[in-house]
Amino acid sequence: MFGSSRAVALLLGISISIVTTAFLSLIEGVSTIAIGVGAIISFSISYLLIYMTYRLFIFDEINKIYDLLNKISQGDYTFEKVEPGTSNNPIKQLSSEISNYVNIKQREIEDLKKMESFRKEFLADVSHELKTPIFAAQGFIHTLLDGAIKDKNVRSKFLKKAAKSLSRLDKLVQDLLIISQMEAGTIKMVYSHFNLNNLIREVFDQFEDKAGKKSLQLRFEKNCPEEVYVYADKQKIFQVLLNLISNGIKYTTDAQGIISVNIVKVDELVRVEIRDNGPGIPREDIKRIFERFYRVDKSRSKDRGGIGLGLAIVKHILEAHHQRIWVTSEIGKGSVFYFNLEKGIREKALVEEAYDD
Ligand SMILES: Nc1ncnc2c1ncn2[C@@H]1O[C@H](COP(=O)(O)OP(=O)(O)OP(=O)(O)O)[C@@H](O)[C@H]1O
Ligand SMILES: [Mg+2]
Repeated sequence: MFGSSRAVALLLGISISIVTTAFLSLIEGVSTIAIGVGAIISFSISYLLIYMTYRLFIFDEINKIYDLLNKISQGDYTFEKVEPGTSNNPIKQLSSEISNYVNIKQREIEDLKKMESFRKEFLADVSHELKTPIFAAQGFIHTLLDGAIKDKNVRSKFLKKAAKSLSRLDKLVQDLLIISQMEAGTIKMVYSHFNLNNLIREVFDQFEDKAGKKSLQLRFEKNCPEEVYVYADKQKIFQVLLNLISNGIKYTTDAQGIISVNIVKVDELVRVEIRDNGPGIPREDIKRIFERFYRVDKSRSKDRGGIGLGLAIVKHILEAHHQRIWVTSEIGKGSVFYFNLEKGIREKALVEEAYDD
């Protein structure tokens, strides 16, 4: 390439110097020395100018494009991002367009690769999680069929265990369905104004027995306002509260266990905090607990029926509300999960409730 830029400059330089010399020789009184000097000067200047111009504006840029294409053909995409439109040189612009286009395509390839490995991992997780309750239920039923059915005590015990495994299977399928629908964006959001305190009370009622068995207290915090209205999808927020409060109950083993809820009004938003004085979550796990199937203590969580989908669902639901979930936790002291919702209007909620009745 450099060779050809020199050759072009040489040819043009010689041509310009010939033309200049021819012109000078036509002028009367110009000495041969002057014509010679004119020829040398015109050749040198035009050679240098043409060479530099070609190098700077054409050959260098074309070389860069060649280098770029060479790198791409060798699968090396490690070139810098170039700001398009910063040069008036069309070849430079072409080069920057190519490298930016390749950058975009490269990012797309990386995303696709990530999705592919994510899909494989997800499939492996789902099959593993499905296998466990299916095998368990299958085992109990086969043992019964193999003769255990004749023993009255064993019969009811095994049937209960098989039913528990099938319930776990049912929960898993339901949760997976919610996640896939939320991800596909096929779940319709149904917004309404509603009384948040009442919804929390409903969740408390649902867990009354479970918490009672573990001597855990479910309550509102002292300064929690009596009546707060929010504008959100009531069913889905119910699911969020259900998952967060159920985690509090599931993971708090302390006899003095308390799972409390607080509501704080912050400008146009309402912050909901779910606090427990359970075991807490290690710092390194906090950023991962919202991933599907992620459990801090796999065996312990599984003992408690945990699949690892609850918080992934919570995250999806809040994202659908254009909100996010936060968590602060301290080992041995407990955890606080909190999120914001849009403030609702009491009058509108009352009208909607009356309409529902
Ligand atoms: N309040 C909490 N205290 C301590 N650890 C928690 C708490 N909430 C969640 N975790 C940890 O985060 C993990 C993920 O929680 P998540 O709710 O997604 O799954 P899970 O409770 O195991 O199963 P699932 O909710 O699907 O039945 C849990 O396995 C547990 O290790
Ligand atoms: Mg959970």
